[in-house]
Amino acid sequence: MKEKLNVNLKNAGAFVSFEEVVALAKLSARHLDALNNGKGAGNDFLGWLTLPDDILKQLDKIEKSAKHLRSVSDTTVVIGIGGSYLGARAVMEAISHTFTPYLKKKPHHDVIFAGQNICEDYLSELIEVLDERSYSIIVISKSGTTTEPAIAFRILKDHLEKKVGKPAAADRIIAITDEKKGALRSLATTNGYETFVIPDNVGGRYSVLSPVGLLPIAVSGLDIRALVKGAKDMEEVTRTNKDAVSNPALLYAAARNLLLQGGRPVEIMVGFTPKLHFMSEWWKQLYGESEGKDGKGIYPASVDMTTDLHSLGQYIQDGQRILFETMISVKSPSRTLTIPLEKDDSDQLNFLAGKRLSEVNRNAEAGTTIAHNDGNVPVLKIEIPVLDEYYTGQLIYFFEIACGISGYILDVNPFDQPGVEAYKKNMFALLNKPGYEEAGKKLRERL
Ligand code: PA5
Repeated sequence: MKEKLNVNLKNAGAFVSFEEVVALAKLSARHLDALNNGKGAGNDFLGWLTLPDDILKQLDKIEKSAKHLRSVSDTTVVIGIGGSYLGARAVMEAISHTFTPYLKKKPHHDVIFAGQNICEDYLSELIEVLDERSYSIIVISKSGTTTEPAIAFRILKDHLEKKVGKPAAADRIIAITDEKKGALRSLATTNGYETFVIPDNVGGRYSVLSPVGLLPIAVSGLDIRALVKGAKDMEEVTRTNKDAVSNPALLYAAARNLLLQGGRPVEIMVGFTPKLHFMSEWWKQLYGESEGKDGKGIYPASVDMTTDLHSLGQYIQDGQRILFETMISVKSPSRTLTIPLEKDDSDQLNFLAGKRLSEVNRNAEAGTTIAHNDGNVPVLKIEIPVLDEYYTGQLIYFFEIACGISGYILDVNPFDQPGVEAYKKNMFALLNKPGYEEAGKKLRERL
């Protein structure tokens, strides 16, 4: 096995000792049993635990479909929201060329996301771009009835059919949804779309290692086999490993819960590369929806460094002492760029001449860690050697299993999301959806 992701607790040591973390991690090993035996809360949604093996038999089909979309189009629009969106975007943004849409060099394939908002301008502007593109659609919805992606799909399906004709559009649309239920399943059957199934026992936010994440990632040109291998290797060191010290998921789950118990209800995910921005967004959904219930849970926030050292950095350093940070620390970038020497040193940067940008960034990370420690902020570090498919796979499985353990430590069901329904009911009522008329009347009185 390659080097595995490491949880470094050194910069939290002044707030919670390694011995305390290990003690809670040891106690929490029983939650691994609950996950593996299916004896804990939400036990009908544990399919993600074994996805690194279970998905192997579908990889050929996923790669074949990805190849097909790349051959018939230059752009794919991926429609989905929440767990049907964030995982794929997190992996793509972490690994792909940051400026893919601006690259002149072919072949590359642009992936654009839609259905993650209801913004009229966003979709109108996207259509303007798609007018000039040859494009395909991957539409993803487990329930098959979520409003945001359903609206986007209705509009873009219509646009694509008008552009290339119904049969060619059907050849360029792939639906990922429930095996039997939901409007998207019926639409796919009626129109003859190719489909992939989201297993019943895999919840949206734990579905990135299913076709939900893997098909869009494969379409973007990334190596999904390396991603799954990374997840599998992380499964091997976490799923049944009850040795607290060598199981990073137990350590992370225990440390964050001890910090919460010590008066830190906010966890900020920190990356020192903009490539991790959507990994943090994915993590926020995973932890926010899994833990934020019954009046409990750590509030998951995120910042991108060093960008946000010039905005939220002030608050982290000096505001209310209610937070701790978790830094994803990437040892080496994938590329090399050195700061040049300037003869007259007019910008006074020659002390950096000859240094790689990554060395400056590493020192920014180290300096920030110490400054935040001095400002009374505990810092957990999750260390990986590089940001590639393999280590992204490790990160994904690590965060998922740590979330399951952490939810059980908090004594909540980490696999449901009852709170998500509240806004939907009100929106339907205000829009006069049939069956919601009375509720709509009452809500309008309150506006
Ligand atoms: O994690 C979850 O379950 C949610 O975030 C869902 O993924 C999200 O609401 C989208 O649901 P669906 O895939 O049914 O359209």
